[in-house]
Amino acid sequence: MSMNRYPKSLTRHLSVIAPAKINMHLEVLGLRSDGFHELAMMMQSIDLADRIILTATKNTEIHLSCDDSNLSLGEDNLIIRAARLLREQSGFKGNGATIHLEKKIPIGAGLAGGSSDAAATLKGLNELWGLQLSREELCELSAELGSDVPFCLMGGSQLCFGRGEKLEPTLMKNSSMAVLLVKDSSVSVSTPWAYGRFRDLYGKNYLSGENEFEKRRQALRSRDWLRSLNEGNSQPLRNDLQQVVSAEVSSVRKSLQLLAELPACITAAMSGSGPSCFALFPSLELAKSAIEQNGEKFLAAGLNSWCCSLISYGAKLDK
Ligand code: C5P
Repeated sequence: MSMNRYPKSLTRHLSVIAPAKINMHLEVLGLRSDGFHELAMMMQSIDLADRIILTATKNTEIHLSCDDSNLSLGEDNLIIRAARLLREQSGFKGNGATIHLEKKIPIGAGLAGGSSDAAATLKGLNELWGLQLSREELCELSAELGSDVPFCLMGGSQLCFGRGEKLEPTLMKNSSMAVLLVKDSSVSVSTPWAYGRFRDLYGKNYLSGENEFEKRRQALRSRDWLRSLNEGNSQPLRNDLQQVVSAEVSSVRKSLQLLAELPACITAAMSGSGPSCFALFPSLELAKSAIEQNGEKFLAAGLNSWCCSLISYGAKLDK
């Protein structure tokens, strides 16, 4: 990829919104030659979001701070990795940046918080450093950071294939549906563990090749998502990792049970590799009233809860 460009005029400060995602569908199709799983997913951005504040510095260093002390701020942090990758690949030799993260998306939750922070960093630094990389160039770079990062960059409602990085937008426009999200604050799930466990238990059933993968992709492309979700339990949400994670993590079982009992809940599922779980509601009002009436019950079960809208964007500059 050739990305050597001269910077435009530099802005000093920028704020970028990094929304979380939920999985409306997560199907493991098979194993790839690179060791990752071949997936067929539908991901949806929601308005629970982190915020990243970027400031250009005179030196070339990259410095990260965060209002949540539970997060590692070292070289393993996806924000630092995103900043270094962008600098390296664009050949940019100018300013560094201080990056402050306001963390709202729970960590290790299956909501792509880290991936969305990485996507927001790429988007923000592209602007701050005046690199003028295109959407496509940013998307290509983002896939090097993690399978969910391209989705977090584009956001909205997307079918995600390959290891998750191949995106095809799908229609959820004008949906008034809302999400009630719950997570046990003391529990997080390792994504490699969840996929590894799934492979140990169900690897023998994996589809064997591209023809079979494509049939499953085609089935998702031809689905009317808005209709099938609104019709509720006629087509329950599918997350293949849910069975392996819920077998080991009691808070997932508890979450799904409590959500399914809520009167106006259309359907409930785990997001990504968990442990956060969500319920869909026909409207934000119904989701809010479910939280008002059940907040105490969630807390008693050790669960934090959020009420969220579906949104049509991913990482974006906060003008
Ligand atoms: O791409 P990402 O770094 O988010 O993936 C984390 C881990 O999840 C991988 O190392 C792998 O164990 C598992 N994974 C997978 N197949 C995918 C995506 C993730 O097996 N398509």
